Amino acid sequence: MERITIEKHFLNQQGNNELPSDLINILYDINLAGKMIRKQVVINGLTDQTGDANVTNASGESVQKLDIYANDSIKSILTAHGRVAIMASEEEEDIIPCDPSAEYVILFDPLDGSSNIDVNVSVGTIFSIYKVNKDGKTPTEKTLRKGSEQVAAGYIIYGSSVVMVYTAGDGVFGFTYDPSLGEFFLSHDRITIPNKASYFSVNEGLTPHMHPGTKSVLEELKSDDPENGYPLSARYVGSLVADFHRNLIKGGIYLYPGTSKSPNGKLRLMYEANPLAFICEQAGGKASTGSQRILDIEPTDVHQRIPLIIGNAELVDLVESFEKTAVL
Ligand code: AHG
Ligand code: MN
Ligand code: MN
Repeated sequence: MERITIEKHFLNQQGNNELPSDLINILYDINLAGKMIRKQVVINGLTDQTGDANVTNASGESVQKLDIYANDSIKSILTAHGRVAIMASEEEEDIIPCDPSAEYVILFDPLDGSSNIDVNVSVGTIFSIYKVNKDGKTPTEKTLRKGSEQVAAGYIIYGSSVVMVYTAGDGVFGFTYDPSLGEFFLSHDRITIPNKASYFSVNEGLTPHMHPGTKSVLEELKSDDPENGYPLSARYVGSLVADFHRNLIKGGIYLYPGTSKSPNGKLRLMYEANPLAFICEQAGGKASTGSQRILDIEPTDVHQRIPLIIGNAELVDLVESFEKTAVL
């Protein structure tokens, strides 16, 4: 089987789509940071980077030592080459101004699925890239943009194999890491989400606090209705990247809805929802809050949370229709 390195792929894309070389080099830098994080993830438990760091992040959640390692790795790689104007991380309270002459803003969730780090379940790194908003006066104004303005987005999943998936607005590509060579190779060329959905992914423990529309659509997905392809199978590990990736490859829908306890759900718009929404739409799927397209949301805060319904386009429409008609 012919092997295409990630570097060769980027060079091809540069030629075909005139992707700017700075953007390609940033993607390549993120790929390198992913190798560093992978190296630490696979020996978790054997080093002093294991367990809780005994601090909380900007969202008030407990931070793991590996979250900090991943955050520092990405920051050090991305600031080394002067290609990044501003960074923002789920693990950092403040936006991080970098090189004022650079053109790109990068937002990232350094390690998604922290609660799974110490139990050998897949975790990942999610990233979102914009051109800097030159009209903005403050770093926040230069950073806060609608998801539809992303120029690239992706994730690296540290699973039974390590895979990097990205889009730069011309299809979705996935690369698998060969640890014997230290290199990523193209393994998923132009990913499209299957039309037939097999899975639904949701934390059903939240059901008592869900809105009536969410409860009823989940009943629909679990109903005995073979003609419409139901019931779907349930799959949920509690790492967004892993649950999203399964549905992207196998066909399905992921929901982290707003609830009476957390009206905006749990996931972050800028670090999680927007990048995955960009990928999902590029793969032929949809992403919604339940009432609005994720990529159309005007952000107000870099750390804001948002309900996320993402995956198979028909099922996202179905969830929207249930949420709109439900009697509250
Ligand atoms: P993070 O580890 O980056 O804070 O994200 C955790 C998120 C996401 O990965 C996952 O889908 C969700 O938390 C799981 O939440 P529940 O435990 O409430 O299901
Ligand atoms: Mn996360
Ligand atoms: Mn995280």
